[in-house]
Amino acid sequence: MADKVRVGVLISGRGSNMVALEEWKRRGERSYRIVMVGSNDPEARGLMAAKILGLPIWAESHKGMEREAFDRLLDAQLKGQEVEVVALAGYMRLLSPWFIQQWQGRILNIHPSLLPDYKGLDTHRRAILAGEQFAGCSVHVVTEELDGGPVIAQAKVRIRERETPEMLAERVLKEEHTLYPEALDIFCQTLRSVDQPTISSAEKK
Ligand code: GRF
Repeated sequence: MADKVRVGVLISGRGSNMVALEEWKRRGERSYRIVMVGSNDPEARGLMAAKILGLPIWAESHKGMEREAFDRLLDAQLKGQEVEVVALAGYMRLLSPWFIQQWQGRILNIHPSLLPDYKGLDTHRRAILAGEQFAGCSVHVVTEELDGGPVIAQAKVRIRERETPEMLAERVLKEEHTLYPEALDIFCQTLRSVDQPTISSAEKK
């Protein structure tokens, strides 16, 4: 099998999706491996989980830094680890246009709604208040538009009667933990197949 795609996962919080990505990878023959877990918050809970999993971590506070200056630091770290794909997993910081340009088409994010509905924060409460029948999560390619890039995978759950945003969030999170690893795996397989040289005309004869 071709070399695994080198993935850098960015987190700001508890990091349960990052753990799910790593655990899925360990359960079988996958197309990716996590070579760095980065954070803009050295206190992020998920960093401990990454350490326990033996993943290399990098954390630096963004406080007091210009957005792009911080992203340049991050970019240097990712490139230093030869990262090919960046997976955002609860990374609570807007990326600068410069960074998105550098990694165009190679940044994925998981968002807790059925995009294009409910971009931004507080998605479950808004979906319940609007009387939606379904909620869910989406994996999408990151572009400059917040939560607006092409969606590559979605999982749907039916909203139950009298369900609170917290209950719904918990059920959707379970879906995220399956959806994100599978979507990342397929994304990386596709990337590798595009990267592979095509059969030359001489070989075809
Ligand atoms: C998840 O709900 C994800 O959809 C959103 O942020 C949350 C991150 O959770 N982008 P975790 O840090 O992966 O546990």
